[in-house]
Parts: sequence; C-alpha cells; structure tokens
Amino acid sequence: MDSAATKQENPPCIMVIFGAAGDLTKRKLIPALYNLKKSNLLSDNFAVIGVARAEFDTAEFRRRLRDDMDEFATEEIDSPSWDWLAERLYYLTGDFGDEETFARLKVELERIDQERQANGNYFFYLAAAPQYFAPVVQQLGTAGLTGEAENLWRRVVIEKPFGRDLESARKLNRDIKQVLNEGQIYRIDHYLGKETVQNILIFRFGNTIFEPVWNRRYIDCVQITAAEKVGVEQRGGYYDQAGALRDMVPNHLLQLVTLTAMEPPISFEADAVRDEQTKILHAIQRPSPEEAAKRVARGQYGAGVIDGEKVPAYRDEPNVARDSMTETFIALKLLIDNWRWADVPFYLRTGKHLAARDTEIAIQFKRPPFVPFRKTSIDRLTTNRLVMHIQPDEGISLRFGAKVPGSVMHIGSVDMNFDYEDYFGKTSSTGYERLLHDCMVGDATLFQRADQVEAGWAVVEPIQQAWSVMPPPNFPNYEAGSWGPKEADELLGCDNQKWEATHDITEKQRY
Ligand code: BG6
Repeated sequence: MDSAATKQENPPCIMVIFGAAGDLTKRKLIPALYNLKKSNLLSDNFAVIGVARAEFDTAEFRRRLRDDMDEFATEEIDSPSWDWLAERLYYLTGDFGDEETFARLKVELERIDQERQANGNYFFYLAAAPQYFAPVVQQLGTAGLTGEAENLWRRVVIEKPFGRDLESARKLNRDIKQVLNEGQIYRIDHYLGKETVQNILIFRFGNTIFEPVWNRRYIDCVQITAAEKVGVEQRGGYYDQAGALRDMVPNHLLQLVTLTAMEPPISFEADAVRDEQTKILHAIQRPSPEEAAKRVARGQYGAGVIDGEKVPAYRDEPNVARDSMTETFIALKLLIDNWRWADVPFYLRTGKHLAARDTEIAIQFKRPPFVPFRKTSIDRLTTNRLVMHIQPDEGISLRFGAKVPGSVMHIGSVDMNFDYEDYFGKTSSTGYERLLHDCMVGDATLFQRADQVEAGWAVVEPIQQAWSVMPPPNFPNYEAGSWGPKEADELLGCDNQKWEATHDITEKQRY
C-alpha cells in the first residue's frame, strides 16, 4: 500500500493527544511513537502535547510515560531514543468541555511550534470517550485550530467507537463535517494497522495464482474468526453498553470481510481502495429483522476456567449489570450480492473468554466435482482450505490432499505453511506505527471514510433492530474457556456447514 503520499519525508508536525492520561496513550500511542523514532520515521521537528483533566505537569507526564514504557514498550528501551522522544513530550491540564482549555492549547501550540519549528502542521488524536468526539472538534474549530493553508495541514484522528448505530454515526459525521472536510478526518480502525491484515491485499493482488479461484465457482464459504481469550477486563462500563456486535463487527470484522471480498482496486490510492471496500459493504444483503435474527447467534459467558484459573461469569465482572443481557459472543452469516460472491456464505464469529486467542480468515474451497478414485478406498475427497492467520501466529497455510504412503490408496490432509517470523524475523510493533505515520504523511488509505463507516453500521442495523425487540432467552449460555454457545454451531449446521478454523480442525481427527 505504497501511495505517493507515503514517499514524502517525515513532515514536521505536532501531535495533540486528547485523553493523554488514559490507557491508549500509554499502552499504544507512546510505544508506537518510540518505535517510529527507532525506525527514523519521525521528523526532528516533531512534538506531542498531551491534554487531559489529570493535574500534573510536563515533567510528571514524561516521568509517568517512562515508567509505563517498562510495561508497554515492544522492545528494550534505549536511552538516547527515549530521551529524544521525552524532550518532545509536553502536557496541558484541561477539561475537554471547557472553551478555555482550547484557548490555552492554542497558545501552547504556538509556543511549541516556534520552539520546534513544526511549520504549523498539527494532528489532533481523539483518544477520549466518544461523547467528546464532536464537542472537541467543535471547540478546535472555534479556537481557529482546524484551518488549513497551502503547505500547512490540520488533521483529526478519531478512535472507535464511531457511533452506536447507523443514526448516531450519521450524526457524528454531520457534526464533525461542520468543522472539518473529509480529507482532514482520519477514522481509525486499529485492525488495519496489523501487518497480516494489510498483507491480505498483497496476497490477493500481488500474486497471480490465487485470484482466478477467488470466487463462487471455487469457494464454498468464508469463515472469519476473531476469538479472544481475555474477558472484558476493566472495561465493563463501556462493554456492557456496547456488546460484541458493536465492539467488533461493523469495524474490525467488516474490514476483514471487505479486504477478502473486494475487487482489485485500480491503484493503492486511498480512495481507490476505499471505493472497492465500500462497494462490498453496499453489496452485503440487508435482510428483514426477522430474517437477520435467523442468521445470527449470540452468547454471554458464564463462569469457567481459562489457563487453569477460575474466572467469573460476565455478570460478575466489575461495572457490569448483574442481570446484563449484553452479548459477549456473536456469530453471523452474511451474503454478498454480486457476481463474484452470490450464494457464498461469509460466516463471522467473535467472542470474549474463548478457549484461545485466534484471529483468522479461512477460505473453504469446494470439493472436486468428481472422484476419479472409484475403485480405491477413497470415496470422499478432502477440501482445500486456505487460512490467513492474522494473530497471534501470523502466517498463511494451505491445506490439500496427499496420498498417504502405502500400498493401499488413502488420502490425507496436509498443510503448506508460511510463517511470517521464519521469513522476516520477529517484528515488534504495537500496530499503531503505520497508522500514525500515515496520518503524518497524509495517506488515508488505512482509515475509514464517512460513507464506509455508515455502510458498516447499515450492515448490522437489521440485527440491532431484531435484538431490540428480542431479548436473549438463555444468557449465560457458554462457559468461559469454551468455544462459545452451541447456537453458533447450529447456525452453520442449518447450512450443512461446520466451523473449520484452525482450532476446530486440530481438535478433531485430521484424516
Ligand atoms: C478493540 C475492542 O477495538 O479491539 C476490544 O474494543 C478488543 O474489545 C480489541 O479486545 C481486539 O483487538 P486485538 O488487536 O487485540 O485483536
């Protein structure tokens, strides 16, 4: 995804982080900036201003982040690189709802801009709670901080969740567009920062051998799994209002669907790629709420055992309602109405506190049309299966049938494996490096456009409508540490299919 923009030098700029005392800043953003510095991808004329309500000063901000780096850095810290970054970190205490914060921010920006020669280029990173997204953008506009000029840019990065449903996403888009033009808005989905996710496009469009079979003629179904071993941890307050559908589907899982299903873009320019992704979102069938309810299964974890340790039920997690009806697992079936994919089901599932962490896209091919080994003991052939392993074991594997050595004709399933680490060594990254750098150089390919976000919400809208009048009957319905509720298996069973992700296969007889 090398666009013209990514070939620019690292431009001088100032990053302003709203929510600088929060989790994202210490866990991802600062370690990512550190990694960028190590890779020489930050300009000498770079600086960060952290804004948050917490009462401390720049010296304390730097000290705290240095301590956090011991926990969250992705590689050993070398002092000169950290010192380089630390002296470019500044802090401003302020309330995001208060106009005066933005007046002070403006003064501070001008001062640091002078000191660091950042050429007036600023990007504002909203790592704050979603209710602040629109008000902060509004205040930035009022303070005169969003106007661009020739050779001077102003951008805003917005974290998820971008709305709660189609209506609220539309409203948020309308609100921020009163101040910003679309080219200034960088809606982030951290899945697109993952190497393995970006590699889907290289794999499909940088090779000739896969694309000819990448369609309904050869593919039986596509199965996308994003299984998490962790529970809701300390995020009960947010999660109980969100649930697995909102938290994972319209954003991360649909990114995987669009990259897997899209047509080849005419270039890797931002809009060429995003146009093709958006077309897929528009082509996904919108069933009636009644029909949507039949294409989805939901679950909530009860108490169980993970890695030998007892873990509590979701309803006993901190900040979760004791009678919560929020789903922590969802499986669904999507159909894409276009020539390439008509009648090929895309099955998606994601959940918390499952038996393993495993995100993968499995392309399940059809059986060969004819079994020529009639006079042998082979009456049923295995199917080919191509798996893009997104995390934690990053790679690609292809399953095919091979003759089991011996005088009797037997067929076995074997795997051809590509493991990232074997070829490219271990890379340490938070997943945010590429996204931050792209924002600095003005490449929006890996960020979501307004219409894309809205189209994602439109895909899940029928499910939201169905569920709004149909509470789950039997929560909790899966044990923590299991592979989710039986309803997820039944969903595929109705189509004579079964989950065929790596763990499903390895748990069963291979051949
Ligand atoms: C976040 C969700 O967007 O993605 C979390 O809010 C989820 O609930 C996380 O755990 C998964 O991301 P990753 O990179 O760990 O797969």
